[in-house]
Amino acid sequence: MKRTHTCGELTDKNEGHRVTLCGWIDRIRNLGGIEFARLRDRYGFTQVIFDPKNSKLHHKARKLSPEFCVAVRGIVRKRPEEAQRKDQETGGIEILAEELHVFSSSETPPIYINIEDRSSEDLRLKYRYLDLRKPSVREAIITRHRFTQAVREFLNGEGFVDIETPVLTKSTPEGARDFLVPSRLRPGRFYALPQSPQLFKQLLMVSGFDKYYQIAKCYRDEDLRADRQPEHTQIDIEMSFVDEEDVLALAERLMKFAFEKTTGIEVSIPFKRLTYEKAMMLFGSDKPDTRYGMEQFNMAKWFEGTSFSAIGNALERGELVRGFAAHGLASVFSRKKLDHYTERAKELGLGGLMWIKVEKDGITKSSIMKHCAEEIELLLKDVSIPPDSLILFSIGPRATLTRALGELRKKIITEELRSAEGLDFLWVTDFPMFSFDQERQRIVAEHHPFTMPNLDDFEKFASSDPLKIRARSYDLVINGTEVASGSVRIHRQDIQQKVFEILGLDQEEAQGKFGFLLEAFKYGAPPHAGIAPGLDRLLALIVGSDSIRDVIAFPKTASGSDLMTGAPSEVSEEQLRELRLRIENEKP
Ligand code: AMO
Repeated sequence: MKRTHTCGELTDKNEGHRVTLCGWIDRIRNLGGIEFARLRDRYGFTQVIFDPKNSKLHHKARKLSPEFCVAVRGIVRKRPEEAQRKDQETGGIEILAEELHVFSSSETPPIYINIEDRSSEDLRLKYRYLDLRKPSVREAIITRHRFTQAVREFLNGEGFVDIETPVLTKSTPEGARDFLVPSRLRPGRFYALPQSPQLFKQLLMVSGFDKYYQIAKCYRDEDLRADRQPEHTQIDIEMSFVDEEDVLALAERLMKFAFEKTTGIEVSIPFKRLTYEKAMMLFGSDKPDTRYGMEQFNMAKWFEGTSFSAIGNALERGELVRGFAAHGLASVFSRKKLDHYTERAKELGLGGLMWIKVEKDGITKSSIMKHCAEEIELLLKDVSIPPDSLILFSIGPRATLTRALGELRKKIITEELRSAEGLDFLWVTDFPMFSFDQERQRIVAEHHPFTMPNLDDFEKFASSDPLKIRARSYDLVINGTEVASGSVRIHRQDIQQKVFEILGLDQEEAQGKFGFLLEAFKYGAPPHAGIAPGLDRLLALIVGSDSIRDVIAFPKTASGSDLMTGAPSEVSEEQLRELRLRIENEKP
């Protein structure tokens, strides 16, 4: 029995037709002696009736259970008026079955498929192939397909060439740990899985491909979180003879096209922009969710000369007083809640947290009213704060204070607010070129070592204070999530050399790691720039999920395991011998 239609397409226009449907029994129940089965496939549901008048068939149908995979032949008929379901595509019809073929029966599934499933995520991941039968889970994967197709359509239309790059390769400098693959043919040597195709895409520019893209798998051995998987997918893009404005404009048009084609949500371009410095000052974060406002401001001018020593002394030490106002929170923040966030502030490295409330009726309260009534009155005169607002503020050195207030703002948004809607696209530009890695006690590249520095800064600070150098780099942020990253690249050997020096890589080390790229740059490297939006994070935002696991067909758990296949798993002694590897027992 070959299917003639899917379970999502028959309507009363097909009335009287003889059809064959294939799919899974979603549910089956007996009402007044008649068997009502709901048949499910990727496209939808169709109701099938097994009438007891056809006793042989009815008898066979009584043995059906959920998740049996079957084919049904029958006649399409209109449902009685009172049984019509206007909210379902096929809700106006049903199939009066004439024939039933069971392809395969099913044991009782370990997770619920046809009703809301409260199984643990671990169980769902172990039986992911069943989990994927659920319409909501399946839809996310189909949306991913549609989005990827839209991305390809756009980039192909713009003249980009899709080029695959190797998966067995050499370490790439994205800052995470590599996954290594031992070489059997060259014992003692290892391939690294690419953390991104960064070096290859730059080499393709040297080759003259001019506009490259690839929907590329990237592998990083790092601590996992809801928005991080050991393998993720990037829409990897590189272009020649362009600067940052060209890349930003292209990425904006790409996002607009793919989002609108996939979701129907209108995306207006150009996107907002903030420099890294401004983002840090206003939000204490390089990926702020700006939908909530709550911008930090400097409160020093109202506290200058204050007799309240906690603040006065801090100002004298050259520290700052900064805070942010949140509307609608004065009435929600009880004493207990304020204590809770004061504790959070302390965990974030602040000495404490002060607050001012402008209640709904305009009455002002504050944790420091006893000491600073006048200062508070002046502040509220200057700054227009609507009723039911809460100002949270603290003191401390600039970097610690802005960051901690930024973290606190984020916590309050996730724990108390979370109501903002829509997609908030924001470019954050001009990141620092370098940062100081406290753990390794050395300077590291903030993006990667092939990022072009701002040349004015470079001239001024390369020798004296490299941490002051800004990079020609940019991130795209949506609703507080970093979804893309990119930069203008270095194509001049002298600058590259100097950057390596600042990173403490001597010539020999640089040659050993990236010699092939440096060599390539000797042969007429074009100026080039690129970007890589993370597909998984974009999709999680589109389907409104907190975790990228929901938009990956076969994701891994937070500990990097694939619960379905059991990977990573042990290998045989023989395989290890072939690779000349020996497993050291863990020390007790
Ligand atoms: P970067 O390392 O910032 O840049 O990565 C680009 C984007 O990829 C996504 N991403 C991830 N998604 C899920 N799980 C992960 N572990 C993960 N790591 C990164 C993010 C991020 O913004 N080669 C450069 C790009 C370039 O310069 O062109 C790069 O890989 O959305």
